[in-house]
Amino acid sequence: MVFSFLYSLLLLNPLLVSSLSANSAGCGRDLPAAQSPPGGPSHQTNFTQSDGTPRTYLIHIPSNYDKNTPVPLIFSFHGKHKNSSEQEALSQFSNESWNPNGIAVYPQGLHNEWEGYPDSSGVDDIGFVSDMISHFSERYCIDTTRIYATGKSNGGGLTGLLACDSNLSTQIAAFAPVSGAFYIDGSSSSDCDVQHVTIPCSPARNPIPILEFHGSADHTIPYPGGGRRGECLPSIPHWVREWSTREGYGLTNKTTQL
Ligand SMILES: *[C@@H]1O[C@H](CO)[C@@H](O)[C@H](O)[C@H]1NC(C)=O
Ligand SMILES: *[C@@H]1O[C@H](CO)[C@@H](O)[C@H](O)[C@H]1NC(C)=O
Ligand SMILES: *[C@@H]1O[C@H](CO)[C@@H](O)[C@H](O)[C@H]1NC(C)=O
Ligand SMILES: *[C@@H]1O[C@H](CO)[C@@H](O)[C@H](O)[C@H]1NC(C)=O
Ligand SMILES: *[C@@H]1O[C@H](CO)[C@@H](O)[C@H](O)[C@H]1NC(C)=O
Repeated sequence: MVFSFLYSLLLLNPLLVSSLSANSAGCGRDLPAAQSPPGGPSHQTNFTQSDGTPRTYLIHIPSNYDKNTPVPLIFSFHGKHKNSSEQEALSQFSNESWNPNGIAVYPQGLHNEWEGYPDSSGVDDIGFVSDMISHFSERYCIDTTRIYATGKSNGGGLTGLLACDSNLSTQIAAFAPVSGAFYIDGSSSSDCDVQHVTIPCSPARNPIPILEFHGSADHTIPYPGGGRRGECLPSIPHWVREWSTREGYGLTNKTTQL
């Protein structure tokens, strides 16, 4: 870990935490035949996106899974050059000490990267996530008010794109990028105004719970932002301020040093 310490920036509205769960259509259905039993090893699964693109994901079913009890669904996206099983080990969502109840899904990016990375044009990972939500909702007993997204670096960037998407922002309850790489599509590396660059974002819900973790000693996706791979990375404080402004919280902030 390159982190000397973590900044965590949290915008959370307790009113958003719904006490009402919503059962998905998969409640009452037996697990898919090829699926390992609850608590078993995570299962590598082939998946065809609705546009025909072949994909894979790794899925973990908690040992206490009961087909009649809706559970959270957590998406955890790997970083560039990494893969689904490495993200499983890194994020620990298949470790029941950390995640006793939720189904954890580790999708695999094409060429080990995600939409949002500067050379990823034509890849529809937002569509992939949308298709997976429908797929899991039909086959597993999911609480559709507790679908979450998190990811590392390029996977954190995808998490940010999901939060900014008009459809996915209403289907996923909360978003937590880690060391997020928030490349701005089509921006330029050379005149990257890290504090003012326009961040395209059209969530269809307000406010949205969002948490960003970022190491101040991150030399890959720097906290202060900058040009990278021909595109502009906003400074992390600018990215967070844009969320705060969008959600109507203004720019007062609370800084905590760990
Ligand atoms: C998944 O897809 C790969 C590549 O097409 C294939 O080799 C493998 O047999 C498939 N696995 C299953 C369980 O269908
Ligand atoms: C991920 O990468 C590791 C290390 O290269 C490899 O051992 C593992 O099989 C890969 N997993 C997948 C799902 O490709
Ligand atoms: C699960 O997490 C606990 C608590 O951090 C840790 O002690 C344990 O080694 C982890 N298990 C695995 C398999 O990584
Ligand atoms: C939202 O979903 C609808 C229905 O699937 C689709 O037609 C539309 O293009 C999507 N909007 C965005 C912004 O992706
Ligand atoms: C928020 O905190 C950061 C870090 O200490 C500081 O640079 C910035 O000026 C603060 N913004 C406001 C509006 O107080």
